[in-house]
Order: sequence, then C-alpha cells, then structure tokens
Amino acid sequence: MAKVIAFANHKGGVAKTTITTSVADALARDGYEVLVVDMDPQANATKLLYSFDDAPSGTIEQVLEGRLSIAQAIIGDTQVKGVDLVGATLLLDGVQKKMQTSPFASTSALKKALDVLHDAYDVILIDTRPALDFLTANALFAADVVFVPVESGSKLALLGTDDMLRFIAEARAVNPRLEFGAAILTRHDNRKKLCKITAEAVKGFYGRVLDASLPIAEDIRKAQVLGQTVLQYDRQLNASNQVVDMAREIAAISGLQKRIADSADEVLEA
Ligand SMILES: Nc1ncnc2c1ncn2[C@@H]1O[C@H](COP(=O)(O)OP(=O)(O)OP(=O)(O)O)[C@@H](O)[C@H]1O
Ligand SMILES: [Mg+2]
Repeated sequence: MAKVIAFANHKGGVAKTTITTSVADALARDGYEVLVVDMDPQANATKLLYSFDDAPSGTIEQVLEGRLSIAQAIIGDTQVKGVDLVGATLLLDGVQKKMQTSPFASTSALKKALDVLHDAYDVILIDTRPALDFLTANALFAADVVFVPVESGSKLALLGTDDMLRFIAEARAVNPRLEFGAAILTRHDNRKKLCKITAEAVKGFYGRVLDASLPIAEDIRKAQVLGQTVLQYDRQLNASNQVVDMAREIAAISGLQKRIADSADEVLEA
C-alpha cells in the first residue's frame, strides 16, 4: 500500500516544492517507487520535474474534473530517475474555483483518484499551494501523513501557525487516517542565534521537528535553474546529505515499505 504524504504550509516560498522534488529523488535513490502529484496551480513541481517550456498533456485538473483517468495522467519519463509525476497547469486554479462553488464539490476527489494507484507505488508525495483552500483540503483528505516546512530564522514564518494547525485538525476530523509527521526547518543555519530561537519555537508549536533540515544554500537555486534536484546537481553537498537524511526520517515516520511486487508500469498495465 502506497503511503500518501503531503507537504503543506500556507506561507509562500518556504521550500515545499524544493522539499517535495528533492525528497522524491532521495526516496527513489533508496529504491522506493515514487509518484509526485502537483496540487499547486503555479505548477512549480511540474516545471522542475517535467519541463520549464512544455505543459503536460494530461494533468491533475483533468483527473479532478473526471475527464481523464489518473493512470493516463502519469508522466513516467521525468527529469528524475525513478520518480513519476502527475502534473498541473494554471488551469488547476479554475478547477478550484468551480469546485468551491459547486454544491456537489468534494474534498475526496483527489483521494478517490489516488486510491487506484495504491499498488503501483510505495509513496505518493503531494506538493500543495501556499493556501489553506479547497485544493489543499483535497491533499490532506488524501494524505496519510502531513509534513510542514517552516522557514527558519523568520518571525513572519511563524505567524499564522495557529491557522495551519487548525487546518490540520479540521482535516483530521474528516480524515482520521491523517497523522501529523513533523515540521521541517528550511533555510536553516544552526550557527545563527535567530535560527536556534525559531527552531525552539517551531518545536514548541508543532511538537515534532525533523532532525534533518534544509540548509540555506545557493546551490539549491542553481540546481533548480538547471531543472535538477540538489542531489542531481551535486550529491556531495551538505544540502544533499541533509535531503537524504530528511527522506529517511520521513520514510521512518510515515512507515514506508518497499513493495516486492511488479514495477509501477506493470501494475498500471495490468
Ligand atoms: N534552502 C534553500 N536555500 C536557498 N534557496 C532556497 C532554499 N529552499 C528554497 N529555496 C528557493 O526559495 C524559493 C522558494 O522555494 P520553493 O518554491 O520550494 O517554496 P514553496 O514553499 O514551494 O513556494 P510556494 O509557496 O510558492 O509554493 C525558490 O526559488 C527556491 O529555489
Ligand atoms: Mg511550491
């Protein structure tokens, strides 16, 4: 059974997409069958994993609207070996607006779509947009575990934590499977006093923070300019080592297991 893991925080630019894509790479290198689902109309994960120039022909918005099966929307040949993708485009925002105003709108649309993939993957990672809205509600309804990336050393990043925690609590009321995984410190520099102070505050708010953190690193940006994860860019970097450790902590907390079964392709073709 694939575990479904969402990365969420309504604060923008806290490295949700950077973590989703690089942790996906690290998990694939550890031998897991990985699917990334882009639930952000900005489609940054899609651009990083698929193409900066071309939009995918099959997308999550078509799946949510019932116009395409999820198996048909899967992109197998992404930029990252071992990582499949269901991508998005800006049109996903239109789906959000339509669904939000429909009396028949359902927060279980994504879960229903992902349910058929449980035997095809070990882990499904969902990247979310910086909003506590209908799309993120769909992500948390589909998820088994949610991790919250938080920018270290920033007072502003901590404002609104109550809203995030309340949203997770509300999601758990309708999805009792949902566990809180941990907060993840990003742009973290343990030598900086402000980072140490905010790390303590994050621990106080969320209760659990991963030991691994994403260090502030220009190389992460450089890698993304090239359409690479930081692991592809330079596996020897401290940031890469942290991502590998982070992925292993996430795997342990989420109870990931490798299937002995066929590859995703064989399961989907069956
Ligand atoms: N540890 C880091 N060091 C330096 N730059 C980083 C780091 N993490 C992320 N960035 C950069 O910060 C920007 C925002 O990161 P990212 O897109 O992953 O955040 P996000 O939370 O997904 O944003 P959004 O809320 O818009 O979806 C990107 O340009 C990324 O390259
Ligand atoms: Mg993002």
